[in-house]
Amino acid sequence: MTTTERRSDEQPLARTDKDELENIEIELLLCGIHRLYGYDFRNYSLPSLRRRIWHRVHGENLSSISALQEKVLHDRACFERLIYSLSIPVTEMFRDPSMFRTFRQKAVPLLRNYPSIRIWHAGCSTGEEVYSMAILLKEEGLYNKARIYATDINNRSLQQAKEGVYEISKMQQYSQNHMEAGGKRAFSEYYTAKSNSVIFQPELRKNITFAEHNLATDTSFNEFHVIFCRNVMIYFNDELREHVHRLFFESLSRYGLLVLGAKESIHFNRYSDSYEPLGRVEKIYRKIK
Ligand SMILES: C[S@@+](CC[C@H](N)C(=O)[O-])C[C@H]1O[C@@H](n2cnc3c(N)ncnc32)[C@H](O)[C@@H]1O
Repeated sequence: MTTTERRSDEQPLARTDKDELENIEIELLLCGIHRLYGYDFRNYSLPSLRRRIWHRVHGENLSSISALQEKVLHDRACFERLIYSLSIPVTEMFRDPSMFRTFRQKAVPLLRNYPSIRIWHAGCSTGEEVYSMAILLKEEGLYNKARIYATDINNRSLQQAKEGVYEISKMQQYSQNHMEAGGKRAFSEYYTAKSNSVIFQPELRKNITFAEHNLATDTSFNEFHVIFCRNVMIYFNDELREHVHRLFFESLSRYGLLVLGAKESIHFNRYSDSYEPLGRVEKIYRKIK
């Protein structure tokens, strides 16, 4: 049976009908969220959206996406929980250490030439990537002339980022990553332990501004020498990726650097010819025109 055939009430839904119904429910949910709360998830990639939405349906003890829609539209706390599920805040310090090592070797010498440096971490999640950059800049003697803007759509993540408090159990892995990324001092110098957590030095936060910013709907807010946007666009569809690449292209200074996640690429968008790779493997690109 296809979606175009009329279905009698007695027949169970065939796969294609179920898929179509699910697509309609997702569309209505996202449209409602956009209209009521102003968050636009309509151009996120469907397979990942579908998984996250069902995860929330079950987490709310509901049985359908329509039921989730009803709850989300009438209960702001439920909406906040959905945003948290949809935003996938997974991150770590010095994630992909070889990228940070390459950044140190190839990008830092370029940044030394600037009198001041503006860096944007778009989709910074709970802040681990930003503190990693602050540590790297400090070790390279560049921190004091840097201004770092760290943005995300997820307010809950941003709150944690501002506090700079993380689980102590993760420090061993982070310390290993820091070393592999070419770290120059003991990682433990950058935080103070307090029972099961650690707090990173307030000194590292001094030049960081944390703010809410939505890549799907907000415009640029400055001109940057470096933009990090790692592991964010993998969740977007082609149209939204193109939109974000345009935003970054317009926000980068001449010879500015764009850093993407390991599974992301500059290729297949209108701006790919405007960049050259800085390393052979790592996703660090330099704007050349
Ligand atoms: C997987 S985390 C990546 C964190 C960090 N960049 C890293 O690579 O470790 C993805 C982050 O992108 C954020 N995000 C998703 N959609 C966004 C949007 N439209 N605008 C800004 N941030 C977004 C999520 O809230 C989440 O914190």
